[in-house]
Formats: sequence, structure tokens, C-alpha cells
Amino acid sequence: MSLLDRLKAQIAQDGPIGVPEFFTRCLHDPRDGYYAIRPDLGAGGDFITAPLVSQMFGELIGVWALETWTRMGRPAPFRLVEMGPGDGALMSDLLRAGRLDPDFLAAAEVWLVEVSGPLRARQAARLGERPRWVGRLDEVPGGAPMILVANELLDCLPARQFVRTKEGWAERVIGLGEDGALAFGLRGLGKSPDAAPPHLPEAGEGGIWESSPAQAALASDIAHRLLVDGGAALLIDYGRDAPEAGDTLQAIRNHQKVDPLTTAGLADLTVWADFPSVVAAAREAGAKAGPILTQAQFLLALGIEARAQTLASARPDRAEQIARQLDRLVGKAQMGALFKVACLTAPDLSPPLFEDAT
Ligand SMILES: C[S@@+](CC[C@H](N)C(=O)[O-])C[C@H]1O[C@@H](n2cnc3c(N)ncnc32)[C@H](O)[C@@H]1O
Repeated sequence: MSLLDRLKAQIAQDGPIGVPEFFTRCLHDPRDGYYAIRPDLGAGGDFITAPLVSQMFGELIGVWALETWTRMGRPAPFRLVEMGPGDGALMSDLLRAGRLDPDFLAAAEVWLVEVSGPLRARQAARLGERPRWVGRLDEVPGGAPMILVANELLDCLPARQFVRTKEGWAERVIGLGEDGALAFGLRGLGKSPDAAPPHLPEAGEGGIWESSPAQAALASDIAHRLLVDGGAALLIDYGRDAPEAGDTLQAIRNHQKVDPLTTAGLADLTVWADFPSVVAAAREAGAKAGPILTQAQFLLALGIEARAQTLASARPDRAEQIARQLDRLVGKAQMGALFKVACLTAPDLSPPLFEDAT
């Protein structure tokens, strides 16, 4: 039975489910979840991410990590952690940039936090035996400082959705329509088994507000870790840098938006990263966090234009392609403005570009 049919049967028996449960089943159901069974990243797959646009992305994150490590006092060993490493391209490019300082490479213990079996295999094919794999951050041993990077991980963590109705706020749920297909519905907040989120703002009828306890919990876990062992975490994702209403649930297959309710397990499912909540959760846990930069601000400040020029001089036949890649990463109409970058740090650390963190 397909995941869609199993979800329908479950809902027919037990009633509607919240968006987070639906989201998690679609991505991680052990038999049929997208990441469990058929994640397909890249130009020929379902979606493309910044490390797959150009090697420049991972290289500049490598330069950032190297400078951060220097500001940490060049600890050896330290844990170089990537969460949600996809096909391993970012870590591969990061480590290549790390060759600028052999001591950095020698000190780095590479840990990959990955839940997807098929993606672990792709990471191993690219990165060899150097990394160690775990399924959760708390399985990375403590006792040494950490530099963590995660690109497009927060958007894989589910959000609850709330809809303003005439009678007040209600939670968006997934039930069955009259035709037996999955359909969005509403459940009064008093009837939800979960607590209402603390802050639902003023909004007109039909307004949608998202709240992701899972994203905030990850920020809090990372912050606790940084408080104990020291270091910094760089989180990059598409999302909001100020509280903002809107429905951002999106299913992508073969680079096209598709209906999430008919493609369970067949498409990647995302919501926007909620950076204000992520930063707030990290600060509440005692870490420093912010400011929230755009990807363009971050990459331009790290010198991506100079790197593009160097690459183009080495390969004049590829100059146009490199210029297109640069524009894709930093162009305002492309990834430059929609994608944001936040850094969470131990209180005693000021990593490059995030010296004003509070
Ligand atoms: C959108 S892909 C991004 C891949 C890569 N970072 C890149 O930029 O190309 C999301 C990644 O996060 C992983 N992932 C999804 N949910 C996760 C979770 N709850 N814990 C750890 N990794 C997760 C996926 O398996 C995948 O590696």
C-alpha cells in the first residue's frame, strides 16, 4: 500500500492529522518517506541547492570555518559537524578550502548528522572514510569545541500552521474530503492535542501563521552544546528574517511545485526557516546569535566575486558559466535575498561577519 493510501486509511480511522505529522511521514516514513527512500538532489533530480550550484559556496564556508577556528584559538581536536549534508558536496568543498591551513585539517574530526540511508551512501562515495556518521546531533561526542554547518536543513523541519477564521485562530490539519482524497481542514485550538503557540499575532481572516517548535528545538540543542563545549554554528536556508505571515509549505518534484496532498513521499516537502524564532531560541538557551544576513551579504563579504574571477581566469572557457553560478548564489532575484544566514556562538566567541551577535 502506498504512503498516500496508508495516510488515508489512518485518517479515516483516527481522524485528521496536523501538518507536522504529515510532513514528517512524507519525508521520513521508513517504507516510503522521501529522504528514507528516494532523495534526488541535483540538476537531474528534484531540486538543486547552493553547494550544487557551485563549488564556491562550500569553499567560502570553508574559509569562514577556518577563520572561526583561528578565533577559537586553533583547538585540536575540534568537531567539524555538518547536519543534513545532502550528497556531501559542501563538506568536500569546505575541506578543500581547509587545505589553506594543514593544522585546521589535521585538527578537524568530521561528523555528519544524517538520517537518510541513500544520502549517507552518496556522502561516503564522495568523502571516503574520513567522516563519522550519526543520526542525531546529541550522538556527536562532547568534550571538544564544535564548528557546525547546515545548509537547507531547517526547511526540512516541520512547522504547525494556524489560520485566522471569523471565530479566531484554528490549526490547519489534513483530513479527508468528500471524494476520499486528502484535504486541508481546520481544528479549533481548544480541540488540538498540542498546546497553542505562545504568540499568534493580529491577522485578517484567512491569514496563516507558521510556528516551528522543531526548528526552535534544534537551535536550542545547538546552543546548549556551544555553551558546554564552545564553538559556532552556521545555519543557511531560505526563510524569513522578520516575523511574517504566510503559507510556505511547498512540495517540489523534478524542479516543479506539486500538490503536497497527492505526492506523499514522492516529493521533497519544505517550509521556510523561521530565523527570528531560531535566533530567539538560541539566545534563550544562553548562546549569542544574529544578526541575520542575506546569503548575498554573507558570500560577498567573504569574497565570492574575487573567487569567481580566479576560477574564471583559470578556465576562460567556463567564464560565462561561472558568472551565471555567481549570479544564482548572490543575485537578488535568485538565492541572494531569499536565503538567509544566521550564526549561533558560544558567548566568548566572535566569528567573522557575526561580531555584532548578542
Ligand atoms: C535539502 S537537503 C540539503 C542537502 C545539503 N545540505 C545541500 O545543501 O545540498 C536536506 C538534508 O537534510 C537531511 N535531513 C532531513 N531531515 C533531517 C533531520 N531531521 N535530521 C538530520 N538530517 C536531516 C536530508 O537527508 C538531507 O541530507
